[in-house]
Amino acid sequence: MRKNIVAGNWKMNKTLDEGLGLISEIMAGDTKASNAEVIISPPFTHLTDTCALSFELDYVHVAAQNCSEHISGAYTGEISAQMIKSAGAAYVIIGHSERRAYFNESNEQLAEKVNRALENDLIPIFCCGESLEVRESGEHFDYVCKQLTESLSHLNEEQYSKLVIAYEPIWAIGTGKTASSDQAQEMHEKLRAHLSTMFGAAANHTSILYGGSCKPSNAQEIFAKADVDGGLIGGASLNAADFLAIVNSF
Ligand code: PGA
Repeated sequence: MRKNIVAGNWKMNKTLDEGLGLISEIMAGDTKASNAEVIISPPFTHLTDTCALSFELDYVHVAAQNCSEHISGAYTGEISAQMIKSAGAAYVIIGHSERRAYFNESNEQLAEKVNRALENDLIPIFCCGESLEVRESGEHFDYVCKQLTESLSHLNEEQYSKLVIAYEPIWAIGTGKTASSDQAQEMHEKLRAHLSTMFGAAANHTSILYGGSCKPSNAQEIFAKADVDGGLIGGASLNAADFLAIVNSF
């Protein structure tokens, strides 16, 4: 009923040649055993070429890593949702913790980015997650639910039903320290319950991905949990064999 998704977030890695080589390797890989949709999220400069390759396989899609909250105009260096759509991408990652932390993206600004994505028929992969400090204070459930409330509560049910959610505890991103499968399930269950208070039964159909040091050795256990519908993969998505092993964990 819910879509299983494995999404690779390349962040600011790979030249164009390297990136095209990586996606070719991923697409040549054997994923017949998996029922997961595969999403590749390269840097903006690689979007058009990556999309052109991805069209050859119907289970492979492309995501941008960010979009502007503005429609168009004098915003030097920014990329609009419309441009991303015109490059051929189907998804856009919104609110990654690195954007929140290093570029001061607020919940209100992210609400606008979600609007721009939906207006342009892009599926937002909306990221949320808490820092170690918040987790240790015991406020993590409230903190992450507030991120969802402040950025998504203005949506109607039909708009909301397009979204993918990614839970990424900041203390697990790029640190090698993964949330245990029980910790992931516990948070995903809370988030789904919170989303159902906001959007009713539509929350049962939302794919909620886990992200944070997900790798071939732990993906299967994490993905087996009832409310975990896949992964947003950083470091391990930069290596075709590792990424394919994660895709095949479904
Ligand atoms: P990681 O990153 O897999 O390298 O921890 C995940 C992410 O930031 O999306």
